[in-house]
Amino acid sequence: MDAGASDDAAVQGTSNDAAVSRESAASLGYISDPYIRHFVKHPQRRAPLINRGTHSRFEGVQRILRQFISKANSDSERNNGQVVVLGAGVDTSYLLLRQQEFDVGMYFEIDFAEVTAKKAATIFRRTANLRSMLPEDTQIAAGGTEIHSSTYNLLAGDLREFESHVVPKLFARGLDCNKPTLFLSECVLIYLDSLQSDQILDWITRNISNAGILTYEQILPDDRFGRMMIENLRNRGLELRGLHAYPTLQSTSQRFLTRGWHRAAAIDLATYHEHFVQKSELARLAKIEFLDEWEEFILLAQHYAFTFAYTSDTYPFNSMDLKKI
Ligand SMILES: C[S@@+](CC[C@H](N)C(=O)[O-])C[C@H]1O[C@@H](n2cnc3c(N)ncnc32)[C@H](O)[C@@H]1O
Repeated sequence: MDAGASDDAAVQGTSNDAAVSRESAASLGYISDPYIRHFVKHPQRRAPLINRGTHSRFEGVQRILRQFISKANSDSERNNGQVVVLGAGVDTSYLLLRQQEFDVGMYFEIDFAEVTAKKAATIFRRTANLRSMLPEDTQIAAGGTEIHSSTYNLLAGDLREFESHVVPKLFARGLDCNKPTLFLSECVLIYLDSLQSDQILDWITRNISNAGILTYEQILPDDRFGRMMIENLRNRGLELRGLHAYPTLQSTSQRFLTRGWHRAAAIDLATYHEHFVQKSELARLAKIEFLDEWEEFILLAQHYAFTFAYTSDTYPFNSMDLKKI
């Protein structure tokens, strides 16, 4: 195997890490996700500070996703919004939205074929009973690496070849450039060279008039904790290639503004935990597990950022929330 291929295998493996953390938080009651357990072969209980971080990460993403879908679909047209999840791994958000009877509209998930094949196999595994959560016309496609339906599509593709390889698949499955669209990237673009991820962002601004994006990625590579974080990942064959180009909260939001996006804002996970998670929810979490590593938690959480940006002032999103940021 050449170096590039072995790096890719390590990056694909991060979908399992994310799933194990989510399963840990779900099984302890931090978050409500009855589906993630089907995607995790070897569950592990994570440390309390990791579970706490997973809770805030999950809540932040679900909040934006639900706001977008509710607003996009409360306009005159139903099923108006589209969601595109970049590097979706075994993210279960689509299943959760269906469980909660959201009118989801078009929903696309993209990842390497190695990852989508496993996800598709799990969804179709009879014992998991997940197939019934998907639209009636759902079919397994592309040799088992994709799932196609009129509204939900799991697509295999390499984001480093977004325009030539991924975009044609999105169009073939019904992406509509005229619909309000939310892109999600949870710990994904950071694995790409910044030139490659910038190309994705530029394609979005050139082609989708009413687009928004939520990214959740690492920041602050240059302090002691940041250097340790990079070293730990490097020891596992993982390189955060995009980190140095946009290393701070300010630069991650500036990135969008200088590329022609209408508004952008970024907060770190520590701020989200302190100001966005409700006090009653924090009290509930405190009863699940005692967290005595507060300093470590804050330090860790300061190295992860949510960045939200959109291209048009008609974007279906509650801008009050952005003002709080
Ligand atoms: C840390 S995991 C996160 C998965 C999911 N977003 C979540 O939060 O649960 C990163 C995901 O990005 C995917 N990914 C990274 N680089 C990619 C690329 N060039 N093309 C397609 N997928 C990629 C990996 O395969 C992996 O599933």
